[in-house]
Amino acid sequence: MSTLGRKSHEHDAIVKTYARLAADYDVRWPFYVDATTRATIARLSVRPTDRVLDVGCGTGALLHQLSVIHPQAQLFGIDPVPEMLAIARGKLPASIALYDGWAERLPFRDEPFDIVVCCNVFHYIRQPVAALREMTRVLRRGGQLVITDWCDDYLACHICDRYLRLFDRAYYKAYREQECRHLFKQAGYLNVDIERYKISWLWGLMTAKATKRTV
Ligand SMILES: C[S@@+](CC[C@H](N)C(=O)[O-])C[C@H]1O[C@@H](n2cnc3c(N)ncnc32)[C@H](O)[C@@H]1O
Repeated sequence: MSTLGRKSHEHDAIVKTYARLAADYDVRWPFYVDATTRATIARLSVRPTDRVLDVGCGTGALLHQLSVIHPQAQLFGIDPVPEMLAIARGKLPASIALYDGWAERLPFRDEPFDIVVCCNVFHYIRQPVAALREMTRVLRRGGQLVITDWCDDYLACHICDRYLRLFDRAYYKAYREQECRHLFKQAGYLNVDIERYKISWLWGLMTAKATKRTV
């Protein structure tokens, strides 16, 4: 049985943390949320009618921007915290379907999505390889998997990571570029394109992009 089958303390901590933060999330970190979601969208190749799943969609910032830029795309979001989903529901068009669930066990059949995107979530995921495999399972062959998260190669992120590991029970870890590459390899990807970049003088991210094999 997976840790999600049992009740895990870490998952409880995530749910409690984001249930508490949900109402203020958008106003508390407006620059960060806007910059990270824009940077991620800039690295997606969306065709007009693509089916796009946002894993850990939170309050729906990325889905909202995508719905404006690609009004014909079919958009879907999933997050384990009902309070975050409620904020997303309030701001998103009714055509965007939202689901309650975890990256490590997605409630979808195999291969319905053209793109699976996951932004600012990976540092919470206890089973990163299982999550990558699960996101790959729901992706069509030739579809894109795009993950943006903190990059532990940057000093500010590295310091923050060490602090949060000690004091925040919801937090898991940030990865270095090489560690991220290794996770994708373990999940079965032969190639992953990882870009490191800064969104401010202080804060650095990385976006990893990989294509699901066609055979
Ligand atoms: C920092 S917020 C990011 C929300 C949104 N993606 C954004 O960029 O604004 C992290 C989100 O990840 C969700 N989350 C944490 N662990 C998760 C997991 N294992 N699977 C799916 N979502 C998760 C949380 O509920 C929270 O909404």
